[in-house]
Amino acid sequence: MFAEGIPFYVPLLKENNFLMDLKSIPEEVCKKAKILWLNYPNSPTGAVAPLSYLKEAVEFGKRHNIIVASDEAYSEIYFNEPPHSILEVAKEGVIVFNSLSKRSAMTCYRIGWVAGDKKIVDVFKKVKTNIDSGTPTFIQDGAIAALSDETHVGEMRADYKLKRDLLVAAFKKINLPDCTPEATIYLWQKVPQGMSSVEFAKKLLSPDIAIVTTPGGWISDKTESGINPGEGYVRFALVPGIEDTKKAAKRIEEQLSKII
Ligand SMILES: Cc1ncc(COP(=O)(O)O)c(C=O)c1O
Repeated sequence: MFAEGIPFYVPLLKENNFLMDLKSIPEEVCKKAKILWLNYPNSPTGAVAPLSYLKEAVEFGKRHNIIVASDEAYSEIYFNEPPHSILEVAKEGVIVFNSLSKRSAMTCYRIGWVAGDKKIVDVFKKVKTNIDSGTPTFIQDGAIAALSDETHVGEMRADYKLKRDLLVAAFKKINLPDCTPEATIYLWQKVPQGMSSVEFAKKLLSPDIAIVTTPGGWISDKTESGINPGEGYVRFALVPGIEDTKKAAKRIEEQLSKII
């Protein structure tokens, strides 16, 4: 986008398990496109891409000569089986982005990595070294320490799962649709029928509930089809501690049910 490319937005819809429908992309768009941007495990939907889908994406990229860029920042925040990386399918024509921001909650350290096709990584290196002056060595040392330890990652996964389950159970109790995410730090909750994302988010802000969420309609754009796929959803970030999440779940069960 910095190079003035024109994005073609494809909606992520529940009926497709929030997987981008590659077949819906028009042929003339495929001819002009340079990069397909994927993000699985997906923020905000919490969806995970099966290996078969990642194979399809690599095939799609090859067929149309499009680079497949895969943002895998949530690869280690999962609740069932570890998600697949697109690098299990291919390196050629593929670049993967990952980061210490989620796996080790080191967001403010600004450190991550790319991997994939050497030709693409070489270009990326040229751009990156001319945008900033590199990552300070003490931060690199911190990253090495974080990558050398899996215990804290497992503990964080367990905490996120516990918080996810607390909220999922609360929504179930008040008869909202089950939106259990498979991964990530988000819960992409469908709002009650007849209510907009903003209306639901406002109800959650009422003083005796006081839960801050992000209305889905605000974090996605209208796609070519005229659909804003975020409308009708609200994003809960599972970032407060377990005790606060328990309080939030209780308020959802006891207070929210009275006003929706
Ligand atoms: C899908 C996705 N990719 C990347 C990032 C950010 O990663 P970083 O902190 O390494 O820039 C986020 C953070 O919210 C994210 O949700």
